[in-house]
Amino acid sequence: MDFSLAQPPKEPLRHVLSSSQFDRAFLDYLCQLTNTVRRFDKSREGLAYLGSLLSHKRAMLYFTQPSTRTFLSFHSACHILGITASEIRDSATSSERKGESVEDSLRTFSSYVDLIIMRSPIAGLCERTARLLDATPRPVPIVNAGSGPDEHPTQALLDIYTLTRSLRMRGGIDGKTICMVGDLRRGRTVRSLARLLANYKDVRIIFSSPPAFRIAEDLRADLAATGIAFEETDAFLTAIAEADAIYMTRIQDEYDIGPEDGAKDYSNYHLKAEHLGALKSDAVIMHPLPRRDELDPAIDHDPRAKYWRQERNGMWVRAALLTMLFGIDDRIQLPEL
Ligand code: CP
Repeated sequence: MDFSLAQPPKEPLRHVLSSSQFDRAFLDYLCQLTNTVRRFDKSREGLAYLGSLLSHKRAMLYFTQPSTRTFLSFHSACHILGITASEIRDSATSSERKGESVEDSLRTFSSYVDLIIMRSPIAGLCERTARLLDATPRPVPIVNAGSGPDEHPTQALLDIYTLTRSLRMRGGIDGKTICMVGDLRRGRTVRSLARLLANYKDVRIIFSSPPAFRIAEDLRADLAATGIAFEETDAFLTAIAEADAIYMTRIQDEYDIGPEDGAKDYSNYHLKAEHLGALKSDAVIMHPLPRRDELDPAIDHDPRAKYWRQERNGMWVRAALLTMLFGIDDRIQLPEL
């Protein structure tokens, strides 16, 4: 994709709370910026330059829900840019254990750091924290790194970047059919990515899941309001055969689904090596990971499998995002090293 016309947003990036805050211009600019950031990785001098940019900044990674790749990719992105990162990975090790409210804890972090990256099981906590801190003398930026079953906007941004790169020889995301499979009701990556896809022209989304895991009503209404073409089907095999990109997800059984929670067996929605022959020859296979049985490891070596690149892309997209949050992205726009 040629992003030579991508321009930085007019408004500085204050917080990253929801994928709804981003438009096409932002997405194109972030993809272009990420492409540039990763070019610095090709030389010691380039990495040293990146590492000098934010060496005066500190970040708190407050992850009170399990995470491997989001935590490590943000941690690595901080390291790449010279940011000193502190972490809390279990509220039982903080003064929340002594009865301190989560709001007071987060305000306390803001006394010591310049940025808070947070993953929490509580939907809406990031927005509340951003509003709370914006009204204090230290209104540090908040990054939503996963908020319950609600949103995972930075995952969606790296998914868009991966789709854009993977489909670049075919004109990018515009006009493509994206099939999302699995627990679409509670999968926050699905919710955030579907909203971002609505920024692209003539995209069609096929949601394929058992009835108990269909998308939630609020997402259905939001997508209908954008005018994006989408359909919901239990015809998994037909859906994956039509798709330019397949986005597999796991069952999110850390959250209740209510009385229909019996629909645990969704083996008919697993992508297996035997399905590869039915997919388009240039289809893109993605998964936010971690996976369980829904994505056969035998697929890993197929050239259409992009999920390992997808997780590495996350580190670069998050590094690019951090430069925007600290308002130094203009210092990434350098000629070739
Ligand atoms: N995709 C994702 O959010 O992975 P982690 O839960 O390992 O961070």
